[in-house]
Amino acid sequence: MTPAARSAAAIDILDRWLAGEPAEAALTRWARASRFAGSGDREAVRDLVYDVIRKRRSAQALGGGVASGRALLLGCLRAAAAAMPAARLPATPLDWDGTGHAPPALDATERALFAAPPPELPRAVALDCPDWLLPAFDSALGLDADPVLRLLRNRAPVFLRVNADKSTPEALCRLLADSGIAAQPHPLARMALQVTAGARRLRGTQAFRDGLFEMQDAASQAVAARFAQALPVGTHVLDYCAGGGGKALALAASGLSVSAHDADPGRMRDLPARATRAGVAVAVLADPAGQAPWPALLADVPCSGSGSWRRAPEAKWALSPDALARLTATQDAILRRAAALVAPGGLLGYATCSLLGVENDDRIAAFLAEVPGWARIDRLRLTPLDGGDGFFLTILVRR
Ligand SMILES: C[S@@+](CC[C@H](N)C(=O)[O-])C[C@H]1O[C@@H](n2cnc3c(N)ncnc32)[C@H](O)[C@@H]1O
Repeated sequence: MTPAARSAAAIDILDRWLAGEPAEAALTRWARASRFAGSGDREAVRDLVYDVIRKRRSAQALGGGVASGRALLLGCLRAAAAAMPAARLPATPLDWDGTGHAPPALDATERALFAAPPPELPRAVALDCPDWLLPAFDSALGLDADPVLRLLRNRAPVFLRVNADKSTPEALCRLLADSGIAAQPHPLARMALQVTAGARRLRGTQAFRDGLFEMQDAASQAVAARFAQALPVGTHVLDYCAGGGGKALALAASGLSVSAHDADPGRMRDLPARATRAGVAVAVLADPAGQAPWPALLADVPCSGSGSWRRAPEAKWALSPDALARLTATQDAILRRAAALVAPGGLLGYATCSLLGVENDDRIAAFLAEVPGWARIDRLRLTPLDGGDGFFLTILVRR
């Protein structure tokens, strides 16, 4: 596909997204209908689509103010053209000429818009943040709010977690290099490697099939490691909101005995196979109350995901004040239910991948104010400025 044909595909997918279809579904539908598109084309179209979604607000402002796939891509490429040499642009609207699979050529207004240097935008627009959320970022992050929001406009780095039972960061770096994959240790977590080239080949490697590593954000690894450090090796831990099991597997790899639970058991569907590949045991539990009290419990609760909006940017635009209020009510309910399962002297970890104080310290403060007999013993807050996703962990002890 030519760069212009890729632009046309991205415009079509963005139009479907603007009409309410999830971006992933629109991408899959396009890929199925476009057998001529190779893997490089699919990756390039995906990159264009997700880049625009992350920057939806500024892209619309710079693309003429219209909510259409064409205007959004035009605005996004206008900003890119002002920031990088033409040779590095993923596409340029100047190539759109209406021939073959290319989008129709720019009209005079669009051409003038694209040629004009981007104006200074209002702060929330320039940072691609919904207006109502900007004060929440300011109060949680202070002077870090702008740099963090700027990072959330870009693609997330790729990290993996070296399985300590089967390899070391150094040995795995060498092994991956043989497959043309460049990786290097990252200071956020002892077993974290940041992959800087060849990331799309990772899952096809023998090292992955052999369980030498798992894909996991470095900050997520740091959260699991911090909780594991607070516990003697062999402690029986309940991962109360296990989801796909990223943290459960990391806890098991650090020598804890892990059971996993989730209100939606379907989300743990891949966990047994992942545990087998990693060579660790993780018991999946439907009724964790049956084995209470637990000496340690991690509640990695559902949240806005604001710390991982680089990976899942649609969530940034879907969040509303009502949805956030529902999330904080769910977080309170889970925290109280989970706390009731912890033994005296036991530890309770509360984690989110949110950057918002209302989902983090505020929930812990509300819990401590209402439920007697608990004390905070540790707190970790990571933002994308630390290199990985934004994460929050508080560890409480039951007296
Ligand atoms: C942030 S995700 C967990 C991610 C996972 N720990 C990981 O590291 O990959 C939150 C999970 O909480 C689950 N959940 C929601 N409400 C719950 C509840 N009341 N009790 C237990 N799990 C719940 C969701 O189904 C979701 O899988």
